[in-house]
Amino acid sequence: MQTLTITQADDWHLHLRNGNMLQNVIAHSAKQFQRAMIMPNLQPPITSVELALEYHAQILQSLPSNSSFEPLMSLYLTAETPITEVAKVAACNATQAFKLYPAGATTNSAAGVKNLTSIYPLLAAMQQQQVPLLIHGEVTDPKTDIFDRERLFIEQDLIPIVAEFPELKIVLEHITTTEAVQFVESMPDNIGATITPQHLHFNRNALFVGGIQPHNYCLPILKRESHRQSLIKAAISGNPKFFLGTDSAPHLQTNKENACGCAGCYSAPVAIELYAEIFSQEHALDKLEGFASWYGADFYNLPRNKTSMTLQQQTWTIPESYPVSSQGNLIPLKAGASLNWKLIEPVK
Ligand code: NCD
Ligand code: ZN
Repeated sequence: MQTLTITQADDWHLHLRNGNMLQNVIAHSAKQFQRAMIMPNLQPPITSVELALEYHAQILQSLPSNSSFEPLMSLYLTAETPITEVAKVAACNATQAFKLYPAGATTNSAAGVKNLTSIYPLLAAMQQQQVPLLIHGEVTDPKTDIFDRERLFIEQDLIPIVAEFPELKIVLEHITTTEAVQFVESMPDNIGATITPQHLHFNRNALFVGGIQPHNYCLPILKRESHRQSLIKAAISGNPKFFLGTDSAPHLQTNKENACGCAGCYSAPVAIELYAEIFSQEHALDKLEGFASWYGADFYNLPRNKTSMTLQQQTWTIPESYPVSSQGNLIPLKAGASLNWKLIEPVK
């Protein structure tokens, strides 16, 4: 049976939530990944190093006892973030970055930034102290067509930020469009991007096949097929600007299958297999290790992992659901679908 052994992967964009949900999802990421960049969009948001360290401790306490998973924390950037917080992030090993949510762009983004120029002094400090800025890149004007929001963010907001702060390290998170791929490719090395499994597997038809499909709804929303093709090309290109970030975002089944269903796909339990599937289809499995295990660490100036993981070529079926104790279920991305590569446990 064919196997593929690569440096253990990291997830550079992950939602773990807190409380009971955290307890129920953390093992899925810890089984697959050595490190993850943890998103700060809790309620209330993680806006300071102090809160980030408390959350970091909660995550460590929730880990299975034999796990060496390392959460890396991002802070939720607001117009009220004190400029002194930037130096604190830079000085602390557990905190790695700030996350910019334009106010209203996505789940728990109400506390985000309304006027981007209001945070320019913070961006100047981040540039100076080499603290990366992670961006949810969508404009929020409700009159703007939802499928145009990423493209317009790049034109209206990101190009001016990059012009003003040419050395600022930026990760354009969960990119979904040809324009985002082209933008990132055209920029110097301090600008990278993460790519999710859902945006590699699905185009926007997947939202409506045979009826509305709430488990394929995430933000930025799925785009048309030509954009998916651009993302696949970027992911398998071997260009170190593009790296793995699942954006795994657990919402209970009842909150997804709802008249006002939440945005977010839950991919953590099957993430590396979902990526491997695409790389395999494209005859580019030799490029998976760079994308999944090297380029993110390199971007953040962190060492590449010393541990490895092995995938085996075998046909298996993604479970229909995962229980969340006393609360309900999580439906994973591509529930019930068949895949051709499987992570062999234990990871180490
Ligand atoms: C994320 C969530 O649920 O926290 N949802 C999503 O659709 N991706 C937020 C985000 O990253 O946009
Ligand atoms: Zn996210």
